[in-house]
Order: sequence, then structure tokens, then C-alpha cells
Amino acid sequence: MSTEAEDRPSEPRRAGLGARLSALFGGRAAEAASEGQADEADRREQLFTIRDRDNIAWFWNSYLKKRTPWLFVVLGMIMVQGVVYQQFLALTESGLRVIFEEGEFSDLVRVCLIVFGLFVVRAGMSYLVPRLSVFLASNAVQELRHDLINRVMMLDLAYFERTKPGDLILRLVLQAQQLSIFVGQGTVGAVRDAVTILIVSGYLIYKSATLFLATVVILPAIVLLMQYVSHRIKDVQRKAENAMGAYMGGIEEMANGMRTVKISNQEENEKGRLRKATEDIKDLALRLQAAQALVVPTIDLASAITYVLVIGGGGWFVLMGTSGMDGAAIITYLLGLVLIFDPARMLAQFFAKLQANLIILNSVRELYEEVPTITDTPGATDDFDVAGDIRLENVRFSYSPDVPLFDGLDMTVRGGKTTAVVGATGSGKTTVLSLMTRLYDVEGGKVTIGGKPIRDIRIRALRGAFSVVAQDIVIFNASIWENIRYVKPEATEAEIWAAAEAAEIADLIHQRGDSPLGPKGSQLSGGQKQRIAIARAFLRSAPILLLDEATSALDQQTEDKVKAALARLGKDKTTIIVAHRLSAVTHADWIYVLDAGRIVEEGRHADLMAKRGLYAGMYEAQKGGYE
Ligand SMILES: Nc1ncnc2c1ncn2[C@@H]1O[C@H](COP(=O)(O)OP(=O)(O)OP(=O)(O)O)[C@@H](O)[C@H]1O
Ligand SMILES: [Mg+2]
Repeated sequence: MSTEAEDRPSEPRRAGLGARLSALFGGRAAEAASEGQADEADRREQLFTIRDRDNIAWFWNSYLKKRTPWLFVVLGMIMVQGVVYQQFLALTESGLRVIFEEGEFSDLVRVCLIVFGLFVVRAGMSYLVPRLSVFLASNAVQELRHDLINRVMMLDLAYFERTKPGDLILRLVLQAQQLSIFVGQGTVGAVRDAVTILIVSGYLIYKSATLFLATVVILPAIVLLMQYVSHRIKDVQRKAENAMGAYMGGIEEMANGMRTVKISNQEENEKGRLRKATEDIKDLALRLQAAQALVVPTIDLASAITYVLVIGGGGWFVLMGTSGMDGAAIITYLLGLVLIFDPARMLAQFFAKLQANLIILNSVRELYEEVPTITDTPGATDDFDVAGDIRLENVRFSYSPDVPLFDGLDMTVRGGKTTAVVGATGSGKTTVLSLMTRLYDVEGGKVTIGGKPIRDIRIRALRGAFSVVAQDIVIFNASIWENIRYVKPEATEAEIWAAAEAAEIADLIHQRGDSPLGPKGSQLSGGQKQRIAIARAFLRSAPILLLDEATSALDQQTEDKVKAALARLGKDKTTIIVAHRLSAVTHADWIYVLDAGRIVEEGRHADLMAKRGLYAGMYEAQKGGYE
């Protein structure tokens, strides 16, 4: 490492070759550069940012370190491969000498046999190294995927509401795969190449240090090129990952929204959008290739220069007869260079690819570092009074900082009673339910159950206390039966049938049998999906029942039946009903009327009617609608 670079860390552009070399291999100069001013010119210098090295260290420590013994086995086999080349050179030289000096034929045969034997050994290694390294890398990346899945599962609902599925799929599927290939094949290949270069170079230097200078002469050109190329590759790769994410997200949205696409004649538009995305991907792939394509010809040119220097200079040595080198030595020397240049070319390509993979590694690490905010607090317990009152006290909450939703909301849901929450669309009814189940956390005030703040209850236990029929129902692409069982996998067959009967969905189970319901339950009607959700609530039969527009999609007759069943289910349970149709809540023990995040009226149906306020107005208007 150059002292020049260390003395003048803030001027990496003017730093000498030593600094550039150390920048290439992640020395202190690169670190200094990345800590320097955020000047574009400075950033161009970094091949390994601090973040990159941190990412590599993370990957090493988390997934590779424990495999060190096996990695040494791989390294050992790679060393054998390098030694084979060195021995091959030494033997070739003696073989040539036998020929040139008209020695014994038997010596030649011996050399040939040993050379062949050596290459058999190398072939054996060439078979074993990738087998072992791919095995190690695949295992490491599988662990990484497991960790990512664990992390993703912990993340807040809010994360999924702001993240495109395409980005998630990209990271969990493609990028993880790419890393596996890069680590298992790319990196191991690079180590093999580096070892080959070191061993063969060492041998060549031993044979003639002067001639080897011819090889060193071209090194600066290669270093400069690699810096230029790497910078470009990082830039393009980042864009390429984004483009790929956008493409996958686009496909996901298109497939999910096909009904809307078709009904609004937007096929052309969608085609255009996806085509544009594929064009972006193609353009970026070409740009990536354009940057990488410079590497090989440069190395080839550099090799040509070296060959010429060695033939010229070496020939001159022989002609002068002073260096102790003969024709056999020169030919062997050239052969040695041939053996080096191929690995050198591969190694240069590896560095180019490394830059692209650093971007991918960073992207995967970002997902890994995503921190959930809704987690169990230290000391949280499972123990609380599920039958107690649920209270929202002075609750403050907003989805986005600039649009506050609740500011000082107070609400009491009596344990064992039925409470209704009504109000205009967007007034915050569903959000109230989300706060009780900690899908979101309040920003101020608190939510308590039986007097205990829900933050002090373990999330699993808290959510386990709720049966929810949500407004947006999620149906998985499985049979109705499986969909109902989802909320209680250990349920018996009889329990599931009972739940299905209560939700009036049993007939449909008989009809459809085991056939899956299509992505997102697309093969079902709205009311059928709703009845599956209700059946889930029956099956789960938790102490607190949340019904968010639970029967809005049912016809009157079915609704009456389901409601009677729900009333039986909710008997003596704390029940919260959210409904637009006020006729559905008249029986409630208490009714809250929400308007733009505030409670404007509360009381029993008869009291609210007598008040002749908002509730009475809404009720009359709805009643009028039926007359
Ligand atoms: N995930 C979210 N991110 C950002 N804003 C949201 C989110 N969910 C809801 N909102 C906003 O918060 C407000 C309250 O939404 P909420 O779903 O609680 O209303 P609601 O009373 O249930 O309405 P509806 O009767 O239509 O179901 C709305 O203005 C909505 O746009
Ligand atoms: Mg709602």
C-alpha cells in the first residue's frame, strides 16, 4: 500500500498507482476517498465503499465463516491445480530440452506420462472444486433466504403497504439466486485464477525476474481500466435492479388487476407499460455488457504487448547468450504467460461482475436490515383479561405525518357487550380495529384491554384473542375447506363443518370440493368470499369479535341467517360491529358515530334517534332508501 495515498487521503484523484491499486483491492485509500467530500469525482474513485465492505463482512460472518474448514478444503484443491501448472511448465522445459538436445527418447516418454498424470489430477480437482463450492454456496444462500423470510414475516403491515411485491420477489428469488451463483462459481473461480497467477508468476519470476518486468509494465493500464469499468457497472447495475423490480411489479399489478384492465379497455396501455419496462431492461443489459466488454479486449491487447516484449527481449537474451536462458526456457516462459493470461482475463471479468454483485448484495442486505416497529416489548406477557373493556384513551394516530387521522380519540368497548362503530367512508372505523389488534401502533395515548395496555401484551396472545371478519377479505388459492381451516390449522373436521354451516357456506363446499379458488379467490363471488371470512371467525371463536362490514355483500335472506348465527357466536363475547347499513347495528349496546376521525355522537340507538343528530339523519336517509 502506498504511503502517498495515506498522506493525502483527500486527494485520491491525484494519488499514485499504489493508491489506485489499493483502491482496487479495498485498501485504506478507498476508505479515505469514501469519507472525503461527497464530490462526484471522488465517488468515482471508490470501488469498495465502506458499505460494500461492511456488506461483504456481514455475508462472510453470517454465512461463510462457519464453513471455513470446507473453504480451506476448496482452497487446498485450488492450490493443487496451481501447482499442476507450475509442474507442467517445469516438465515441459525439460521435455523441450530433451528434444532440442537430442536426449533419450525414454526421458521424453517419462515427461509425457507425468504431464498427463498431472492433468488427470487437475481434471479431478476441476470436478471436485465446483461440486463442493456450489454445495457450500447454495447452503449459505439457502440460509440467507431463510433469514430473509424470517425477517420479512416480522415486518409491519405498513411495510407491505408501501413495498411493491415485485421488489420483494426480486430480492427473495432472483437476487438471492444470483448471489449464490456468484459466490459458488464466480468467487471460487476467481480464487482459482488468482492462485494460478500467483504460483505461475512466482515460477516465472524465479526463472527470470527481468523478463517478468514485461508483464508488470502493463499492470497500470489494467488497473485504470478496471476502475473506470467498475464505476460504470455499479451505476448501471443499480438501475438494472430497479428496472427488474419495476417489471416484476408491473406484471403482478397487471395480473391482479386484469378485470379492471379488460373492463376499461386498457390492454394496449398495459402492453405499452410492460413493453417499456422490457425495453429498459434490455437497454440496461446492453449498457452493462458495453461496460464489461472493454475488459477482455484490453487484457488481450495487454497480453499481446507482453508476448512481443518477451519474444523480443527473451530472444535477445538468448542471442546475447549472457542470461543463461536457452530456447527451451523462452518457449516455456511464453507458455507460462499463456497459462497466466487466461486466468488474468477471467479475474478482470470477475472484478467487473463483483461490482454488479455488490449492488445486489446491498439490496438484499437492505431487506435484511428492515426493522419492524411493532414488536413485543420487553416484559410483555400473555396474561390479560380478554373479557375486559377495550379502551382507546386520548389516541393519536396518522398514516402519514401530514394527514392526522385521530387526535385525542377516546372510546370504550364494554367487555361482553356489542359495540357498533358507524360513520362515513374514510372516517377511520377500520383504523380503530387495526389499532386494537396492533396492526398499527398508536402514536400517542394508549389502547388497553381489561386495564392492561396492549403494548404490554405479547402480540401473539393479543391477536389470538380476536376473531376478525375484515373488510378486505384475503382468500388463498386453495380449497374453501383449506381457506377456512387457515385460521385454526388444528381444527377438527367437525369444527370446520360447524363453522361452514353457520356461515351458510357448507353447500358450496359440497359443490366445489377440493378445487382451489384461484389467485386471491378470484373464482368466488363477493358474498361467497365474505362467508368464508365469517366461517373463519366461527372456527376461531376467539373471545373478541371484530366484524368490519362483515355481511355487506350478502343478500337479505342469507344476511339474516348469518347475522342470527353471528349473534349466537357473539353472545357474551366482546363484539365490535362496523357497518354502513345502520339497520345492522340497531341492537348494539352502544353506538359510536365517527366523523373524520372524531366521535361526534354516541349512545344507544333509541337515544341517538331521539337526539335527531347525524346518526338519526343517516338512519332516516337509509330507511327512506328502502321505502
Ligand atoms: N394503509 C393506509 N395508508 C395510508 N392511509 C390510509 C391507510 N388506510 C386507510 N388510510 C386512510 O385513513 C383514513 C381512514 O381509513 P379507514 O379505512 O379507517 O376508514 P373507514 O372508516 O374504515 O372507511 P370505509 O367505511 O370506507 O371502510 C382514510 O382517509 C384512508 O384514506
Ligand atoms: Mg373500513
